[in-house]
Amino acid sequence: MSYILQKTHPIAVFDSGVGGVSVLRELIKIMPDEDFIYFGDSKNVPYGTKDKEEVRSLTISCARQLFDQGAKGLVVACNTATSAAVRVLREMYPYIPIVGIEPAVKPAVLCMEHPRVLVMATPMTIREDKFHRLMERYEEEAEIIPLPCPGLMDFIERGDLDGEDLHKYLQDLLYSYSNNHVDAAVLGCTHYPFARKQIQQVLGDKVRIFDGGEGTAREMRRRLEEKGLLRHEQRKGEILFENSLTDERKVDLCRRLLDL
Ligand code: DGL
Repeated sequence: MSYILQKTHPIAVFDSGVGGVSVLRELIKIMPDEDFIYFGDSKNVPYGTKDKEEVRSLTISCARQLFDQGAKGLVVACNTATSAAVRVLREMYPYIPIVGIEPAVKPAVLCMEHPRVLVMATPMTIREDKFHRLMERYEEEAEIIPLPCPGLMDFIERGDLDGEDLHKYLQDLLYSYSNNHVDAAVLGCTHYPFARKQIQQVLGDKVRIFDGGEGTAREMRRRLEEKGLLRHEQRKGEILFENSLTDERKVDLCRRLLDL
């Protein structure tokens, strides 16, 4: 497949479900004049408890669909899909800017002298080599504690952002780290920023919380700028939400999350 990348074409943002909206909002903040297509694969969510080959093939087929719609760049706004497929996608589409997200371990490690850093992510992200390499890079500078959080994304996917069940789940999950037991926490799944307030409550108010959304958005802008593909116009961009589930409620939830 090859087509001419056009400045006026939209930027595609992809996630296994609604979580990537936490990255979309950062993209809109710094590129308000751009159009975006957000695609959530909620029909196949969760990705984080599947095996790598399955996530890779789901990601490739969603990316293909987005390129067929003329996207001038792709943000893989899913840590799990990034570790499974971003390298292959770049090989398949070398001329299209493709940016993935990974847990924001670096800023968390650098936030103070030898911090204790809790990294919350899906079981697959934590299992993958990409994450092990990231941990090895910083193991001298911090104590890094990986914590797989199966099930946490389900609350966000259901739009349950402030319920008692979520609070109870977090209290059980974070039991050993609560009351300022760690110095920093990394939200290594794009769904988790929507539970940030509750996570902060359980971990303690001194814990610094990081996510990779802003850094990923800046990287996409840099890549588009480099290729002369940024619009630089006085306009308000349009956002199109698509989902593999035809249920309109998913799209409504995405809009609600974006407005939070
Ligand atoms: N939002 C995805 C991530 O950033 C994971 C959610 C899932 O398990 O599908 O890893």
